[in-house]
Amino acid sequence: MYQDKKVVFSGVQPSGVLTLGNYLGAIRNFPKFSEEYRCYYCVVDEHAITVRQNPADLRRRTYETLALYIACGLDPEKNVIYVQSHVSAHAELGWILDCYTMFGELSRMTQFKDKSKKNADNVNAGLFTYPTLMAADILLYQTELVPVGDDQKQHLEITRDIAGRFNSIYGDVFVIPEPFISKTPSARIMSLAEPTKKMSKSDENENAIVRILDPKDVIIRKFKRAVTDSDTVVCAAEGKDGIINLMSIYGALTGKSFPEIEQEFAGKGYGDFKLAVGETCADVLAPIQTEYARLVADKKYLEEVMANGAREAAKSAMKTLSKVRRKVGFTDLPRY
Ligand code: TRP
Repeated sequence: MYQDKKVVFSGVQPSGVLTLGNYLGAIRNFPKFSEEYRCYYCVVDEHAITVRQNPADLRRRTYETLALYIACGLDPEKNVIYVQSHVSAHAELGWILDCYTMFGELSRMTQFKDKSKKNADNVNAGLFTYPTLMAADILLYQTELVPVGDDQKQHLEITRDIAGRFNSIYGDVFVIPEPFISKTPSARIMSLAEPTKKMSKSDENENAIVRILDPKDVIIRKFKRAVTDSDTVVCAAEGKDGIINLMSIYGALTGKSFPEIEQEFAGKGYGDFKLAVGETCADVLAPIQTEYARLVADKKYLEEVMANGAREAAKSAMKTLSKVRRKVGFTDLPRY
């Protein structure tokens, strides 16, 4: 069923619950990709341990992240949904690619610089080589398209550089991946506390982010507290970043355009508008939350999905890895 389809690969860290920004900006569009593409969704637990994790929490969040993806509409029958550490080819190709990646180019990665500052007591080698493991994730599946946010663009660039370098030495081994720009324009959701900053699931201020699993009263409270301006009119005017962000969210949730939203709230205050955004948001997320609760209680099912996904992923990954092993000069004997 997958033959001749272009490959899309996406990785998600099992850390923190995904936000409304992740949902409206990306995940919501994922389910329909499977009609046109062969899609891999990988929970990247190996990437997660580049910062210190509580083992029990990491294990639990791996299940939860998988459950949330399925609850958001990703059908495990139509997509390959799996866990990174279940397919050993990732770590193996990661090592090989380390040897084709320069110290200098890894030193220039802004995420490495940021995370080194945040984790000054644990600037480990894995944090430094994070991008080569990510390159392995992508290149193992001969991926053509990677849906990436701004924060991961540099990592996709270095993946392209590494793949190009490898190909120029050994011939066409890897497909060079491109960023995936969705045909349906997706919303760019900003922080509720600082509306010029993107909503990030790792924000320290919980009031800045709405999480997909936040209960209704929490969602409404967060929208009530959203930073706006001292004006009173709901309109998309210059300098009204907070209101524009709420209008984008409301628009993405309802399908309404800015002029339609302006009309709907003409003569009403920010309080009414914020309440409407909060309630609409809670209504849209409710069915996802119900489905999530059902899935996360069914560990056996989640493990079945993980096992099937890993088996399916490993088939494609092994093809690429075998080729790479031959190219670099490893012997072709049974491996244990
Ligand atoms: N680095 C990504 C993030 O932090 C996660 C990731 C790992 C990824 N491997 C990937 C994303 C491959 C896309 C493709 O969000």
